[in-house]
Amino acid sequence: MLDKVKKLIGDVEAFNASTKEEVEQFRIQYLGSKGVLKDLFNDFKTVENHLKKDIGQALNQLRGAASEKVNELKNSFGNTTETKSLYGDLTRPADPINLGARHPISIVRNQIIEIFNRIGFTVSEGPEIEDDWHNFTALNLPEYHPARDMQDTFFIEKNPDLLLRTHTSSVQTRYMENNTPPIRTLSPGRVFRNEDISARAHCIFHQIEGLYIDTDVSFADLKQTLLYFTKEMFGKSKIRLRPSYFPFTEPSAEVDIYWGLETETDYKITKGTGWLEIMGCGMVDPNVLKNANIDSTKYSGYAFGMGIERIAMLLYQIPDIRMFYENDVRFLEQFKSVL
Ligand code: DAH
Repeated sequence: MLDKVKKLIGDVEAFNASTKEEVEQFRIQYLGSKGVLKDLFNDFKTVENHLKKDIGQALNQLRGAASEKVNELKNSFGNTTETKSLYGDLTRPADPINLGARHPISIVRNQIIEIFNRIGFTVSEGPEIEDDWHNFTALNLPEYHPARDMQDTFFIEKNPDLLLRTHTSSVQTRYMENNTPPIRTLSPGRVFRNEDISARAHCIFHQIEGLYIDTDVSFADLKQTLLYFTKEMFGKSKIRLRPSYFPFTEPSAEVDIYWGLETETDYKITKGTGWLEIMGCGMVDPNVLKNANIDSTKYSGYAFGMGIERIAMLLYQIPDIRMFYENDVRFLEQFKSVL
C-alpha cells in the first residue's frame, strides 16, 4: 500500500490542468466524498499496526499535496465568474478617488473676482514678461525716477528693456490701449521682485489690480467701492484712507481696514493699532491716461492694487508666506473652497 500511495503522490504533483473543469474533476477524484483519499483512509483501518506510522504519514502527505494542487490551479485560473467578462465585474464600486482642494491663493483670488464681478468688473490679464513701457514708463515712472527703487526688478534684457513685471499695474496700460472707456476691469496675476525670501516676503507673489475709467468718476466713487469690497470680503465696515504716494495715481492712498482689537492675534497682526493695511489706490494720474491715448479732459478714473497672499494670510491666519509655494499636501488639503 505504501508504494501505491507514493505513486499517487507523484501523480498528484505532476498533474496539470488546462481548464477549470479539469481542476474540479481532479478535486472530486482525489478529495471528493467518494474519492481516492476516502477509499485509502478506509483501507488504512485494516493496515497492520507496525506499518501504520509510515502509511499514515504518506496518506497525509497525499492529502496535503492534492489540496495544494487544487488551490494552486484554481488561483491560476482566477476566481469563479469574474473572469467571464473582459473587465471583471463592471458593477463593483470603483476605487475611491481623493478629492483635491483649490490652492488658497486661487480661493482668495476667485472670491475677490466674484465680489467685483457683481458690480460690473470683468477680468483681464497681461503678460508676466513685460517691457519697460508697460511696467514703468507708461505708469508715470520714467527711467531714473526714484520710485523705481521700491520695486527692484529682474531684468531679462537691457535696451530694449524686458523684465518680469513687478506689479499687475502693467495690465492697466495694456487694457486701456485695447479698450475704450467706460472701463471696469480686474487684473489678477503673478508678479516678481528682487526680494530676499522670508516669512513676510517672496520674490514671486500675486496681485489683483482694479481699474475704473469713465466720465465723472470721483474719489467718493473709489471710497464707496472699497467699502463695499471690505464689507463683502472681510465683513468689516470701517476703513480709512491714508495719504500715500504712487506715481500712477494722484491723489494716492493706502487703504486700512479696522480689524479690531478683540483677541491676542488681533493685537499681533495689527501691531496693537487695530488697523490693517490691505491695498494701495488712487485716482489715475492724467499722464497715465494720456500715455494710453485716453482724453484726460473727458475721462477720469480710479485704480487699486492688492497682494493676494497678504489677504489670504489674514483670512486664514497663515504665519509664513513660504507655505503657499511649498506644495505640502498637509497644508493644501486644509482649504475647502466653494468657488
Ligand atoms: N502697483 C502697486 C504696488 O505694487 C499697488 C497699487 C497701488 C496699484 C496703487 C494701484 C494703485 O493701481 O492705484 O505696490
